[in-house]
Amino acid sequence: MRWHSIHMSLRFIVPLVVVLALFAYAVVPFMESMPERWFVRDLDARSQLVANAMQDPLLEYIPQNSGKRVEQLFERALHDERLYALAFCSPGGRVMYKTETYPDSLGCRMVRNPGEKLTPVVRLPQGAVHVWESPLFDAEQYLGKMVLVHDMSFIERRSEDTRKYLILLFIGLGIVVSMIAVLIAWLSLRDWIKAVRGLVQGDFTPQEQAMVPREVQPLISDLRELMQDYRGVYHGVGEVSLSWTPEKLRDLLHDELAGDEILVVSNREPYIHMHTEHGIEVQRPASGLVTAVEPVMRACSGTWIAHGAGSADRETTDGNDRVQVPPRKPAYTLRRVWLSEEEEQGYYYGFANEGLWPLCHIAHVRPVFRSTDWEHYVEVNQRFADTVVAEARTDDPVVLVQDYHFALLPRMVKEKLPKATIIMFWHIPWPNPESFGICPWREEILEGLLGNTILGFHTPFHCKNFLETVDRYLETRIEYEASTVSYGGELTQVESYPISIAWPDMEGLPPVPEERLAIRTELGLPPEHLLAVGVDRLDYTKGIVERLQAVERMLELYPEMIGRFSLVQIAAPSRSSLEEYQHFEARVRRLAARINDKYSSGANGGFAPVLLRIAHHDSEQVTRYYRAADVCVVTSLHDGMNLVAKEFIAARDDERGVLILSQFTGAARELVEALIVNPYHIEQGAQALYRALTMPEIEQRERMRSMRTLVRDYNVYRWAGRMLLDAAQLRRQQRVIAKIRSHSAKPFRRAR
Ligand code: G6P
Repeated sequence: MRWHSIHMSLRFIVPLVVVLALFAYAVVPFMESMPERWFVRDLDARSQLVANAMQDPLLEYIPQNSGKRVEQLFERALHDERLYALAFCSPGGRVMYKTETYPDSLGCRMVRNPGEKLTPVVRLPQGAVHVWESPLFDAEQYLGKMVLVHDMSFIERRSEDTRKYLILLFIGLGIVVSMIAVLIAWLSLRDWIKAVRGLVQGDFTPQEQAMVPREVQPLISDLRELMQDYRGVYHGVGEVSLSWTPEKLRDLLHDELAGDEILVVSNREPYIHMHTEHGIEVQRPASGLVTAVEPVMRACSGTWIAHGAGSADRETTDGNDRVQVPPRKPAYTLRRVWLSEEEEQGYYYGFANEGLWPLCHIAHVRPVFRSTDWEHYVEVNQRFADTVVAEARTDDPVVLVQDYHFALLPRMVKEKLPKATIIMFWHIPWPNPESFGICPWREEILEGLLGNTILGFHTPFHCKNFLETVDRYLETRIEYEASTVSYGGELTQVESYPISIAWPDMEGLPPVPEERLAIRTELGLPPEHLLAVGVDRLDYTKGIVERLQAVERMLELYPEMIGRFSLVQIAAPSRSSLEEYQHFEARVRRLAARINDKYSSGANGGFAPVLLRIAHHDSEQVTRYYRAADVCVVTSLHDGMNLVAKEFIAARDDERGVLILSQFTGAARELVEALIVNPYHIEQGAQALYRALTMPEIEQRERMRSMRTLVRDYNVYRWAGRMLLDAAQLRRQQRVIAKIRSHSAKPFRRAR
């Protein structure tokens, strides 16, 4: 800070000093020489006068060789206080007569060159003198020359004074000029600041805007754009301070959308009823989508339409395929849709998970597209769309569509309920146009998605990819600045809404030290054992293989960690009937076994470095691991957001623990205090792991504290709220447009 102000002052003072120095350098000598020139001119005139006055007597005395009279004449002339000495030189250049004061060194040498205007000043040891030579002629005969010497020491004294006054004048002038400059700068800065503040706060009237200084005017649009971008990325500083809560979201839905009804559509259901050996049990699926949307539904009530995939799902629904959830404290309705095995195979496993999933993730698994899968995809989308229409109690419900399973549904619903507000969130990445172009039904998918009022992605980068894809494959009008696509007379807003979690209530949970000990005891590890945790679905996009390789490399590089460290990898089985997933699971198991073989000999305490837990874990269990771990490792090869990263942060109310986060997750754009890694770079992963395990507590706290603030403020209510607000605004706009259209369509009545 201090250096900054010194720097700022120097930026002002140095140029001023340079300008003044240059000025003084150029002007002072010039100003100094001025009085000297004036005086020389004056002395020239005086010398000429004296010489003229002495000419007649000398014409008389010289031919007579009357030295005495010449000297008397000279003595009289010397009474002039400035005339210092006089001499007369013979034509041969010898001093014939002179006063006593006449300097010998001067002799009779010629002082002024022919053609010179002014007499030069001669500097003698006793001081500067003015020397005037005046030839004496008698008729045509040259008799010699008079030399008049004037004292110039007084001029030097005056020049000295002049220099002093001049320097003082410049210093004074410099101070006055800089004060005026500072004053002017301050006044205009005040105007600038006022103008910029007004623009930023957006509270300028048109009159005030006209008063904005001219220099600021060109900045207005730039600033506005910048502010919009800023709001776009982080959705407004002001909103954060409002702190998004379930209540606020509920109010917003009622006030802004006049909706007492919200419908959610997703493939995965939030509660799955399963037959187990203990009877019917309710499971919560491992799904980022469910983690995010469920709290929103609890806040807003309404109906969630999803595939009933649980073995006991049918038995637990009523005659209308509905069940109230959460089972312990019902807050909304879950409406289950049934699919045949064939349909599930084609729509879910086939088109969605063998086609769109690898297509959008670009994680080195080739997408597979089959016509039969596509047909099922269309069919199932239609079935869900019909269910939405059937469940809607009004003709303008708010429909929240989730994910890549339902790319066609928005248009299908729009056709039946044109007044509905359809908001879709695409939970996975959107690839570049070339990659998307592989899909044989790319146009149909894009058309389906453009049935949405709002289409949301996690990051601006995915929005950009989407707009470019639409531009490449469909005839539409795209407004890049407003991020809208106009297709078939309907407008779709494409925006980024970084998804998040509901900030959990940690009250009542055992304190972290207790949990650390409990988990280590359960795992058969000593109390001080270093523990990293990975929590994922067993999916090839999650970078689990790369994570294990990083563990292996870390142990190679830092053998002191062998027997002191383990990674607990919680992996929820997922899409297991697909071959790609079966191969992946086998690969993970093999790799874990190989690393454990290598590093868990008895000599190292026998502690396995990789503890693979391929099983479903509920959120309470996962939270215990988050709290017990020293490090959480997220190494996805490509991930829309990744909520595990945010859940880990939210679980650490002790402000300890380190997050290692892949640069290819949406979360890495927000959680910059994590240790960001390229998961493909095994060495880098290994180093990050070691750094995380040895990070000083104070650094852990600083990083964790900052990330916790962000996750708490940018929570899932805000994510949903932002979409609902944007939808409300768009709905208002469209109503106005519709009104204008209907007015302009009315026949024009002529006056009678
Ligand atoms: C991702 C997808 C979700 C999906 C989840 C779990 O997060 O974006 O739509 O629900 O994975 O996958 P699953 O296929 O088990 O529903």
